[in-house]
Amino acid sequence: MRTHEAGALHATAGRRGPEWLREPADVNALVPILWSENTHRDGVSGILTTAGVDVLDLASEYGTPAYILDESDFRGRARDFLQAFGGIGADVADAGKAFLCQEVVRWLAEDGLGLDVCTGGELAAAIRGCFPASRITMHGNNKSTAELARAVEAGVGRIVVDSYEEMVRLADIADRHGVTQSVLVRVTVGVEAHTHEYIATAHEDQKFGFSLAGGDAAEAVRRTLKLPSLRLTGLHSHIGSQIFDTQGFEAAARRVLTLQAAIRDEHGIQLPELCLGGGFGIAYTTQDDPLPPAEHALGIRAIIDSESERLQLDPPRLSVEPGRAIAGPSTFTLYEVGTVKDVDGIRTYVSVDGGMSDNIRAALYDAAYSCTLASRRSEAAPILARVVGKHCEAGDIIVRDEFLPADISAGDLLAVPGTGAYCRSMANTYNHLPRPAVVAVQDGAARVIVRRETEDDLFRLDV
Ligand SMILES: Cc1ncc(COP(=O)(O)O)c(C=O)c1O
Repeated sequence: MRTHEAGALHATAGRRGPEWLREPADVNALVPILWSENTHRDGVSGILTTAGVDVLDLASEYGTPAYILDESDFRGRARDFLQAFGGIGADVADAGKAFLCQEVVRWLAEDGLGLDVCTGGELAAAIRGCFPASRITMHGNNKSTAELARAVEAGVGRIVVDSYEEMVRLADIADRHGVTQSVLVRVTVGVEAHTHEYIATAHEDQKFGFSLAGGDAAEAVRRTLKLPSLRLTGLHSHIGSQIFDTQGFEAAARRVLTLQAAIRDEHGIQLPELCLGGGFGIAYTTQDDPLPPAEHALGIRAIIDSESERLQLDPPRLSVEPGRAIAGPSTFTLYEVGTVKDVDGIRTYVSVDGGMSDNIRAALYDAAYSCTLASRRSEAAPILARVVGKHCEAGDIIVRDEFLPADISAGDLLAVPGTGAYCRSMANTYNHLPRPAVVAVQDGAARVIVRRETEDDLFRLDV
C-alpha cells in the first residue's frame, strides 16, 4: 500500500519543495491524470477549457471561486466502476458523502448505481431526488432514531448496523412499521489503509464498526440473528481512503470471509452479501498513481474466489462504495488570484479568493493538491509557490507546494484539479465566505447545479 504521510512529503519543503515535486520543463503543461477527461489547455492562448467551455467565460458568467464539474467525466467514471465491478458480479453504490446534490442523485439513478448515505440529510437528498430506495445503503456510527425511522419508512435497501444499541432500536422501529429490514453488520477488520490517520478507518482504535479481533463482530451477528424484524444479509468493511493497490482490500476480504465461515459453522447459515466499502485512490498530484477500477475489481474477485474455495463458502455477492474515485477527478476549482507575496529565498504565497471554506482537506488531512495558471499561457520561469486562501487562519492552505510561473499576478485565474470529492461536501462559511457554485459543463454548455450562496443565505438562520 502506498503511504502519503504528510511529514515525509513536506520534510524537505522549502525553495525546492518536497522531494517528489519536480520543476516542470514547461510550466504550461497539464498532466492528464490530474484533470477530467475533457479539460485541456488551448495550445495558443493557454486558456483552460472543459468540455469546450473556457475558464474566462466560466469566471465571467458564474464568478469565482467555482467548482467546475465535467459531467461526462463524472458519469463516465461511475459507469466505469459499474462495468468493472458488474463484470465480476458486484454491485456499485456511489458514496454520497463525496459530493451530493439533486442533479447528481438523478445521474446516479439513471446510470444504475446504488447510493450510500450516512446521515438524515444525505438520505433526504436521495429521497428528494426520487432515488430508488431499494438501492440506498444507510451508514452512520450514531444514527438517530428519527434517521433510522425515516430510512425504514423510505424502504432503504440496507442499513449498516454499527452498534449493539442501534441494532435494538432499529429492530424496534422495523417492528413498529411491520417490516423486516435488511441489514449488514459493519466489521472493523484490523486492516489499516496507510493513508492519513484520520481517513484510515479499519484499525481497531476508532469509532466505526464492531471489532473482529475483539469478538464484537461475531457477537453482533449473534444478536442480530435473534431480532426477527432484522434480516442479516451480510457483512460490511471499509478500510480507509486513497488506497492505491488491492492488498488492503484483499486482506480485509480474507478476514471478513473467515468470519463468514465462522458464522456458517456457528449458525448454519451463509450470509449472501459482502460490501468492501470505498477508498479507491485518485491522483491529486503527480506522485499518485491510481489503479483503474477493472484492476481493483479483478484483484478483489480473485481473492474472494480463492478464499471462498479454501473456506468452502459460496462466494457472497460483492458490492463496493466508491466516492472520491467517481466525483473527485471530474472537477476543478477555479479561483481568481489576488495578493502575491514573495518570502525571500523560501517561496511565493499566491492568495486566491476562496480557501479552507471551499477546500478544507489540506488543513484537515494535510492533503496534497496541485494547480495551474488557467487564464493564459506564460513564458516566465517556474517559481515555488504556496496557494493560500483569504481566511483569517495561517493554516488556510489550498496547495502546499506547486511550481507556478513567476509572473503570476492579481486577476489571473488559477485551477486546482481533483476537487470534486469532499470539497463542496465539506464546504463551510468560515469568515462568512459564501460557498461557491457548482457548475456542470458538457458539450460546450455550462449550467449551475448548485448555486452560489448569497449574502442573504449567510444570514438566513440568524434570529
Ligand atoms: C462506509 C464508507 N463507504 C465508502 C466511503 C467512500 O470512500 P472514498 O470516497 O474514499 O471512496 C467512505 C468514506 O468515508 C465510507 O466511510
